[in-house]
Amino acid sequence: MGIYSTVMDAVTEVTGLSPTAFFTILAMMVVVYKIVCGMFLGPEDFRQKPPKEPVQLGDVTEEELRAYDGSDPSKPLLIAIKGQIYDVSSSKMFYGRGGPYSMFTGRDASRALAMLSFKPEDLTGNIEGLSAEELAVLEDWEYKFMDKYPIVGRVVPAANTTTNGDKVHLQDQDVNGLQKQQI
Ligand code: HEM
Repeated sequence: MGIYSTVMDAVTEVTGLSPTAFFTILAMMVVVYKIVCGMFLGPEDFRQKPPKEPVQLGDVTEEELRAYDGSDPSKPLLIAIKGQIYDVSSSKMFYGRGGPYSMFTGRDASRALAMLSFKPEDLTGNIEGLSAEELAVLEDWEYKFMDKYPIVGRVVPAANTTTNGDKVHLQDQDVNGLQKQQI
């Protein structure tokens, strides 16, 4: 009881407020703080999230790759260079929706990257007719991507199927081996 009245007296002495007024204001401040924080962050933002393992996609057509353009938040962001598919989800600020390079996502962006072009008609894996300089630029991008992003698959022509009609899946092959060969 002694401690209680000492604390209450101290509150009045220090703040000039009655203990009731002081604790009411304090409670209101906590509520306002929680509301403002909640506008920007959810409780899950404070929890440590384990890094997502890149999903091995295997062989997909350019058409199928489109599904990984960021329009479905549950899917990784993927970009292909020379047919090799990279999971660029870790650079959402570049490649996610509204990002400056989101036009490359879900595509084989080889031609556009080689030509340093943002033109829609260059958003293709077709590198025919590129100059030696453009091919060198593309190779620089390729090394940058190999260094930074995991390889998760390969773009194949639409008709690339095995004799029994099943698609050939890269996870049946050695994806890392493929990466090493390229380096
Ligand atoms: C006005 C010219 C440009 C400026 C000022 C610019 C600036 C930048 C900057 C500051 C970064 C971040 C670099 C980093 O932190 O690693 C970046 C990344 C990037 N830029 Fe540009 N850029 C320009 C033109 C282009 C063009 C023409 C292309 C290709 C068509 C391009 C493709 C990229 C890509 C793909 C990345 C991300 C690479 C990654 O995943 O790390 N940029 N750019």
